[in-house]
Amino acid sequence: MRDTATTALIVDDDEAICHMLAPVFSREGFNVVTAGDGKEGLEAFRRHHPTIVLLDIRMPRMNGLEALKAIIEIDPKATVILMTAFAEVGTAVQAMRDGAFDYVIKPFDLDEIRLLVRRALEINTMRADIVSLRRELSERYGSEGILTDNARMIELRDTINKVARSQATVLVHGESGTGKELVAAAIHYGSPRSEGPFVRVNCAAIPEGLLESEFFGHEKGAFTGAVSRRRGRFEQAEHGTLFLDEIGEMPRELQVKLLRVLQEREFERVGGESTIRTDVRVVVATNRDLEAMVREGTFRQDLFFRLNVVSLKTIPLRERPEDIQLLANHFLERFCAENTVTIRGFDDAAMECLLAYSWPGNVRELANAVERAVIMCTTPVILVENLPESVAQGRAPLTDPMTMPGADDIRPLREMVGRFEAHIIEMALAQNDGNRARTALQLGISRRALQYKLQDYSIS
Ligand SMILES: Nc1ncnc2c1ncn2[C@@H]1O[C@H](COP(=O)(O)OP(=O)(O)OP(=O)(O)O)[C@@H](O)[C@H]1O
Ligand SMILES: [Mg+2]
Repeated sequence: MRDTATTALIVDDDEAICHMLAPVFSREGFNVVTAGDGKEGLEAFRRHHPTIVLLDIRMPRMNGLEALKAIIEIDPKATVILMTAFAEVGTAVQAMRDGAFDYVIKPFDLDEIRLLVRRALEINTMRADIVSLRRELSERYGSEGILTDNARMIELRDTINKVARSQATVLVHGESGTGKELVAAAIHYGSPRSEGPFVRVNCAAIPEGLLESEFFGHEKGAFTGAVSRRRGRFEQAEHGTLFLDEIGEMPRELQVKLLRVLQEREFERVGGESTIRTDVRVVVATNRDLEAMVREGTFRQDLFFRLNVVSLKTIPLRERPEDIQLLANHFLERFCAENTVTIRGFDDAAMECLLAYSWPGNVRELANAVERAVIMCTTPVILVENLPESVAQGRAPLTDPMTMPGADDIRPLREMVGRFEAHIIEMALAQNDGNRARTALQLGISRRALQYKLQDYSIS
């Protein structure tokens, strides 16, 4: 049944029990070792490192409870099942707290034992799986998972490794698709908390009314619909890292509450009285300019300062062209494996298109383009015609003012950014049928700020 024979240890001063159980375990594929009292059992445990131990409670010399404690001290993960008379069930329950896996009440039938043993083994396998999955995760999402040939990105990777070891709150900012989430994960998996959970919350995706309960949980009956107690994200992330994505979308009322948790490390569930201490590291990300939001009054300054203890900036793909080829090949390999197809690479013209394109959607856009190409491709290499049209034509998929200027088009920054901004405002206005309040809302600026900009750019 199992690859290598594993050992079961049966400890009971009643020889009849040992005799009855031994064949059950042999049939399940175990080597069986028996012992007649706690002391002997402990010696056998040391010698044979059994996978599972059946331990009687009442025995001469050393009783089962003492033996259990000694065994758990040797190996805290040992799987020990206690055998107990009905009158001593209370002791067995207590023993579970001392680390026993479970108990059976004498007289028991053999099916009960078989079930219990299988369950114990299943749990052992799952534990081992979790350990190896976590290891895999940290290899995959550690800073080595951030592929790059770019000097500034390599520097960022080094900083991540340094920052990861600290407890500091980290603010990750950068354009959409540049790898902010990857950076947050690398901080977690490179930190002493990597064995704990990495919990991500997208602040923009949760309805405003539910945000507080999402973060802090709620007690049963705290509001209509709160039918049972719920643990919030802070509790879920205990001993791990809480990643608050799109922090710029967090409403002001919640900003105050977040600030309090960051400062005092405690909170209450919605509708709850008791204060809960928390041990969570917070990493936040945004593609918005939080400093500008602070000036506009939509983001609290005190929270910004608190979050900005360490700030990491991801770099747009167009500023690190050396990564385009590296990442394109990486995604090619990944999507070929996922789709079980074999494609050798990109033909020269296709690679030229990838290199010439400005990638406004950054690495995510590149990944999507390669995935699409892999699906469309029917030749041994990817051709220009397999690429999305905008990439094939080497221009951003937006109208002219949005295109990244080439080296010859460089003008004063204010002018270039202004053209870009004006164009976005015009589009938003048109989309909202000229309604300024709705436009301001959509653009995430105040109505007054919009008014200034309209005047500035002479948009009517
Ligand atoms: N340097 C990199 N190496 C490997 N994969 C990368 C790299 N940068 C980004 N990716 C991949 O690109 C995709 C986008 O990255 P990610 O989700 O981290 O970006 P983001 O900045 O959080 O984007 P958004 O602002 O849209 O949420 C992910 O699939 C990520 O794994
Ligand atoms: Mg993201």
